Amino acid sequence: MTNAHADWWKQAVVYQVYPRSFYDANGDGLGDIAGATAKIDYLAALGVDAIWLSPFYPSPLIDGGYDVADYRDVDPRLGTLEDFDKMAAAAHAAGMKVIVDIVPNHTSTEHEWFRAALAAGPGSPERDRYIFRPGRGEHGELPPNGWKSTFGGPAWEPVGDGEWYLHLFAVEQADLNWKNPEVHEDFKTTLRFWSDRGADGFRIDVAHALAKDIDSRPLEDWPDDPGQSSLAQSGSGDENPLWDRPEVHDIYREWRQVFNEYEPARFAVGEAWVAPEHQWMYASTDELGQVFNFEFAKKNWFAADFRLAIEEGLDAAERSKSTTTWVLSNHDVPRHATRFALPQVPSSTHHQIATDWLLRDGTTYYEDREAGTRRSRAALLMELGLPGSVYLYQGEELGLFEVADIPWGALEDPQAQMTAHGDAIKGRDGCRVPLPWTSLDATGDFGFSGPADHAAPHLPQPAWFAQFAVDVEEGDEASMLSFYRAALALRRALIVPTGDTSLAWDEANAGDVVAYQRPLADGRTLVSMTNFGAAPAALPAGEVLIASAELVDGKLPQDASAWIACA
Ligand code: NOJ
Repeated sequence: MTNAHADWWKQAVVYQVYPRSFYDANGDGLGDIAGATAKIDYLAALGVDAIWLSPFYPSPLIDGGYDVADYRDVDPRLGTLEDFDKMAAAAHAAGMKVIVDIVPNHTSTEHEWFRAALAAGPGSPERDRYIFRPGRGEHGELPPNGWKSTFGGPAWEPVGDGEWYLHLFAVEQADLNWKNPEVHEDFKTTLRFWSDRGADGFRIDVAHALAKDIDSRPLEDWPDDPGQSSLAQSGSGDENPLWDRPEVHDIYREWRQVFNEYEPARFAVGEAWVAPEHQWMYASTDELGQVFNFEFAKKNWFAADFRLAIEEGLDAAERSKSTTTWVLSNHDVPRHATRFALPQVPSSTHHQIATDWLLRDGTTYYEDREAGTRRSRAALLMELGLPGSVYLYQGEELGLFEVADIPWGALEDPQAQMTAHGDAIKGRDGCRVPLPWTSLDATGDFGFSGPADHAAPHLPQPAWFAQFAVDVEEGDEASMLSFYRAALALRRALIVPTGDTSLAWDEANAGDVVAYQRPLADGRTLVSMTNFGAAPAALPAGEVLIASAELVDGKLPQDASAWIACA
């Protein structure tokens, strides 16, 4: 059993399973819970400490399951509660923890509360669980104000009786009113429900949006875009009616009481796209415990950018008196093998190139896959050597690239529909394509579905998936999968057991080289070194534990990382 201690999550490697695209055990073309159970051995062999499952609850699947119709059940297409129990038992037996996703900002409009709200009418207690407001204009025909949905289009939807409801995401995702005590009680019931069923932790969706200031001034006095899609929320939270408001922390202090009812106490990791200087509050141990630090996912391939990201992450960890997290990819951003394969511009322009490229079906820019792979390998060592937790996204261990050319008609992401009439965005499906398990495509899905007779995968897989299939990579020592396994094993054996989360910058850390030191369990010191520059970098004297590329005359080439154990 690894990582059995109560604060296992402070230095864990967590693997994100996007259930519909992981493995399909029943042959309907959608991945399922039994599919995750079937691959527990694969995940144990990879060497991760925990799995986080994106939502698997009953849902109309308008937003990949982040539109939840019932928080305390399993979508029949993905299985049953018994399937969940079996999966959790299998994970635990293999020494892995289980993290489930909680979506507290909004429910699906198919949720029984929302249906009741529509039926009950204006002014009812049922409507008070959501954010309904009268429309403007003589007959309420205009939205209460000009707020926009994160996915495009207005953030208000009329319901036909003069009232409109707020949805910061899809029309089918109605925002809850966190001033209503029933909402608080219901989510505590949900947290206990999954804790009792074996969940060890929670991932909290849009954790920075729950508290809203709707009534302190007339709605139309707020700016139309109060920075809601801003990835770098900054400034004082109380100037913003929707995002990162100070009162949101009261909710998480309340949840902490629930987490502490359990032994060991449950933890949560918040998804909060807030400025680094605000991250630590969500992560403090009287709140969630951890928060995603997305700085790695935002950076292009420059030493200075990654150095800054590391500094900011460590600073947030220190302030929260917890640990930070490192994330290169998830189900919401273009895969990093592709981001690193595109022309690199300073990170202040964020994903613009990747986004443009996706919009134009991958024809605008040349995708240098060799560079993408090389940099992804280097990034992994830089990330895994750091103190804190690492969140991996399914398929990155295979080195998968973004699938940029999914035809518009096959896209599922509501972003594609909601922006279709304006500045169209294809959205996030390119990183959500069902995984290739076998290189043989005899049944048209690279082994994604177990049964020979099966429906087509819910998103089309490209022919090039064959060379990234698990069975190919398992047999190849030079593959990304073999590299992930080796690096994860070293981290588990030599870095985590010290329990020491300190980091010192190495003297070589300058210019194009990012280098830091960590204590190793055998008394030696780890030097992790990443070379972003063209000139090969000299390594310190010591044993090379692992390198992401072959050394050149004993030096570290460009776009490569190495771990050296020094006396
Ligand atoms: C963040 C989730 O990661 C994303 O996939 C989803 O669309 C939004 N929250 C809304 O729930």
